[in-house]
Amino acid sequence: MNLLDRAEEVRFQFKKDLFKVKIDIQSVENFRLRYLGKKGYIPALFREFTSLSVEDKHKCGKILNQIKKESENSIDTLKQRLNSIGIDEDFFDYTLPGKLPRLGHLHPVTQTMNEICSIFREMGFGIEFGPEVETDYYNFQALNFPKNHPARDMQDTFFIGDSILLRTHTSPIQIRAMEKQKPPIRILAPGRVYRNEAISARSFCTFHQVEGLYVDENVTFCELKGTLEIFAKRYFGKDVKLRFRPSYFPFTEPSAEVDISCFICGGSGCRVCKHTGWLEILGCGMVDPNVFISVGIDPEKYTGYAFGMGPDRIAMLKYGIDDIRLFFEGDIRFLNQF
Ligand code: DAH
Repeated sequence: MNLLDRAEEVRFQFKKDLFKVKIDIQSVENFRLRYLGKKGYIPALFREFTSLSVEDKHKCGKILNQIKKESENSIDTLKQRLNSIGIDEDFFDYTLPGKLPRLGHLHPVTQTMNEICSIFREMGFGIEFGPEVETDYYNFQALNFPKNHPARDMQDTFFIGDSILLRTHTSPIQIRAMEKQKPPIRILAPGRVYRNEAISARSFCTFHQVEGLYVDENVTFCELKGTLEIFAKRYFGKDVKLRFRPSYFPFTEPSAEVDISCFICGGSGCRVCKHTGWLEILGCGMVDPNVFISVGIDPEKYTGYAFGMGPDRIAMLKYGIDDIRLFFEGDIRFLNQF
């Protein structure tokens, strides 16, 4: 085939391809390079042209120039169409608002624990943590629950070995703090605890507690009452009243349970307070001398108070949640509300 035939073939192929070009920057440019780029079909024809005899050059020159011109014009037209559309597949509108990363937030029980801690921190309490896998000694014995003591029945325990268990309360942190520090000791200990209880709307196999402890010379029950009253008014509102009911815990003597007047109905009785006007929020008492003896603090010289509360229950009361299991299911539709 001579050059003229080949030139006609390129011209024909160009016209066929022209219909198929997609109107976006990259496709138009690829098409242009295929025919007019340095290694394209048309410059190849011109390279061949240089080796022709003068006579043949005369015959072919005009046609080749025509083909080149036609192709350039067609590509210009494509480019104009591209501009008139103004948008191609690569188009990106930099003025669009960005996609914000979805931020998580603290779990409602963590928020509640943090709020409780910050109130006590302002009163000079430091924060302490302890292990969730505890020994029988710290969880029970040092807290004046001897082996086989019936009070152990109050806390159904997950045992891991003979004397290793999942802590049933945050009170063992009291013991660890008193072993480490000398009085005055003023600590708050938030954390997760475990109990082998039948699961229901009211109780779950794991929940949280915040433990408080104050040990010094001449610490009195009166100070305990005053401190808890400041806390309750700060947390639940300045109108709440406190009620102390005698109770029993092995590690405190005397012991009490504390109720606040119902902050929903103001004490007149409603569904939340089961028409009693009161809500139980914590247990407390004066540190039992046996506990001081187990950590080597002289009970003749020092006294102290302790208290323990359940932030899950407090959050349930505050937000009107009637099933504790919701806190542990991780359902984002529930958690997002806080
Ligand atoms: N540890 C107790 C419980 O889990 C709560 C408690 C009661 C803690 C009285 C205390 C306290 O420090 O004085 O039931």
